[in-house]
Amino acid sequence: MAIKAVKGTRDILAPEIRNWTEYEERARKLFRRYGFEEIRTPIFEYTEVFSRGIGEDTDIVHKEMYTFADRKGRSITLRPENTASVVRSYIEHRMDLQARVKRLFYIGPMFRYERPQKGRYRQFYQTGAEVFGSSSPLVDADTIEMVVRLLRELGLTGLRVDINSVGCKECRPDYRAALQGYLSGHREALCEDCRRRMETNPLRVLDCKVQGCRTVVADAPSIQDHLCGGCRSHQEQVFHFLDMLGVSYRLSTGLVRGLDYYTRTVFEVISEGLGAQNAILGGGRYDNLVKELGGPDVPAFGWALGMDRLMMVLGDRKLYDEEATFYVLPVGNELTYAVETAAALKNGGYHAVVLAEAVSLKSGLKQVNRAGGRFVLLAGESEKEKEILILRDMKNSTQREIFARNLQKEIKNEIAK
Ligand code: HAM
Repeated sequence: MAIKAVKGTRDILAPEIRNWTEYEERARKLFRRYGFEEIRTPIFEYTEVFSRGIGEDTDIVHKEMYTFADRKGRSITLRPENTASVVRSYIEHRMDLQARVKRLFYIGPMFRYERPQKGRYRQFYQTGAEVFGSSSPLVDADTIEMVVRLLRELGLTGLRVDINSVGCKECRPDYRAALQGYLSGHREALCEDCRRRMETNPLRVLDCKVQGCRTVVADAPSIQDHLCGGCRSHQEQVFHFLDMLGVSYRLSTGLVRGLDYYTRTVFEVISEGLGAQNAILGGGRYDNLVKELGGPDVPAFGWALGMDRLMMVLGDRKLYDEEATFYVLPVGNELTYAVETAAALKNGGYHAVVLAEAVSLKSGLKQVNRAGGRFVLLAGESEKEKEILILRDMKNSTQREIFARNLQKEIKNEIAK
């Protein structure tokens, strides 16, 4: 039996892939405008990077990591996200000494053993941005505005920015206790996972998708009522800068995110048209993670966008300009003229392919049809003798002779038609 791609993974093929590459090019350009540099970390890391970074009692670490022992028995994990890896790299290369504020972005695959469904894969792709070295609320707002601009420039509408604060070391314990007190009064109504979470990490319960838990959570105490002065004023300033930058948002008091490293600001961008997996991106501030992973005491902020979901939202919309390919058909055994013609086209910046396999005019045209091509240049021996080419437009089933020396000009006119 033929081998298929592993469940939850897929091949991204043309024409869809063109939207991916065009998007990536635009994203890279935009990020540089905001002072970000690209970083490429390895696809796998020592498991510790993620278990310590993301938190032992998160779904990701608990049940979704691709972890295996390498040949020397070391525990290795395929990255389920990239923030922890980037922090590992930041610490390893002492980036804190390179710049007061370091702005990094990445584009690449992540791996989570989740139940595949629409918009959810086991290998998926993220674009992410991380800023190290500033606790200013302007960084939160500016980095959110950057991705909102990216989505806007791609023509996306129907997006919603949900934002909340998860407090800090000062105020979260107080909230945690209040939440735990409330949840213990509703223990019976919680799912099995949440009964455990209630003890180890009660904020995780706010994130549970099980209906019974959601009902309990609806009346739970809000973290907004427990924020300390510092967190409250940080949030107010983030809102102020978002207003200034023209980003609309909604305070979503139940938003806590599925990873443990966040402090203060957390946010998600929701796309109305996505169904259950409607978060197109998420992120927030993580002021303690660098230190927790053994580095200096450096605050940070970042987000990651799910590219598979972004592509779903884009649907059939094309980000790229369709550029015509010219199929050069040798007619007969003489390849030289066709090769020269294709080279001239490529020199002019056009896309050209020689149909070296075509045994006849008919088989050549069939190949072009199957590829969805439009323009064919017949370049056989008799054309060579007359220094002409026959330019055929498959769409209109018309053809005409052109002088080889006028090739570039003729092609330009043809495309403009
Ligand atoms: P996350 O919310 O786990 O955050 O993932 C960010 C985005 O990745 C999600 O909003 C979603 O669009 C996409 N995503 C996640 N899992 C899947 C999946 N199985 N299939 C398809 N798309 C998926 C993070 O990863 C954090 N590192 C974000 C961050 C960066 N926080 C601070 N800096």
